[in-house]
Amino acid sequence: MKVLVFGRRGQVARALANSACEFELSFAGSDVLDLASADPDIAGLVAERKPDAVINAAAYTNVDRAETEIEACMRLNRDAPARMARVCAEADIPLAHFSTDYVFDGEKGSTYVEDDARNPLNVYGRSKAEGEAAIESIWAGGARVAVIRSSWVFSPGGPGFLQTMLRLARERDEVGVVADQWGCPTSAATCAGAALALVRQLLDRDAGAKGLFHAVGADAITWADFSEAIFAASAARGGPAVPVRRIATSDYKTAAVRPKDTRLSSVKLQAATDWRPPPLAEALAECFDQMELA
Ligand SMILES: NC(=O)c1ccc[n+]([C@@H]2O[C@H](COP(=O)([O-])OP(=O)(O)OC[C@H]3O[C@@H](n4cnc5c(N)ncnc54)[C@H](OP(=O)(O)O)[C@@H]3O)[C@@H](O)[C@H]2O)c1
Repeated sequence: MKVLVFGRRGQVARALANSACEFELSFAGSDVLDLASADPDIAGLVAERKPDAVINAAAYTNVDRAETEIEACMRLNRDAPARMARVCAEADIPLAHFSTDYVFDGEKGSTYVEDDARNPLNVYGRSKAEGEAAIESIWAGGARVAVIRSSWVFSPGGPGFLQTMLRLARERDEVGVVADQWGCPTSAATCAGAALALVRQLLDRDAGAKGLFHAVGADAITWADFSEAIFAASAARGGPAVPVRRIATSDYKTAAVRPKDTRLSSVKLQAATDWRPPPLAEALAECFDQMELA
């Protein structure tokens, strides 16, 4: 079975490439098709590659820059996935698309489930929420589409929070990290596993694999806790590690407002598939095993 993946150098795209799955994966990065352009020829690429299924791991992911690059963000995160869903529905092939915990406002006070109302606080979250809504109107017609919300993604190559922490640990004696925002760090490999599990079942026409799913790591923690876990894994391999100074969101100004608590429940996906989220320590160990620590 051939699976076309939008994205090539991104964290999740590379995790898919490393997954040793049974599918013949072909990748389309921004060099092949610019999804931020006004009229990306997604139908043409699908006609050319003739995949049995599509995974969309491409997105505009710079949360702060999105506040000013609104058009590019909307094209990539709202318009392109909607177009992919239409093309896949017309070709009768499954689509697995990634979304984010930032579609929520973080005010629930407990773990979010798939049916909770979206209320994004920033442009990135709004673009992904509108992408979900556009896709939903297409899957309502019976198309085989799964939307996978993940969060706080890390990978051996990044770039992301993990790489930033290791760089800062080389440069400083301690790092100040926000300790009042909660979420679920998720390895890119865990995201890739979720998409592959859903695609497998969508190819088998399993209706239980259609719709919205959360796929996040097993631990719900703060950014400060996450940095401590990263340093523990790094120190265990002789890599950089420094003490973490726990700071408040109000002490760390960013262009985009972040939701304060986006813990997600992945129970629905675990009931629907054999995908299971690993504990953070295990996912970090697997990630560090693939990294060179100078
Ligand atoms: N990173 C996170 O913390 C996080 C959290 C929650 C959800 N997610 C979601 O998970 C998915 C994967 O995220 P990620 O962390 O793997 O993202 P990433 O590392 O930032 O990679 C972004 C991908 O998008 C592609 N892309 C960017 N601009 C493009 C353009 N103009 N045209 C075509 N492709 C373009 C890149 O293409 P190239 O291969 O050419 O570079 C790359 O493969 C996204 O949907 C994201 O919203 C991520």
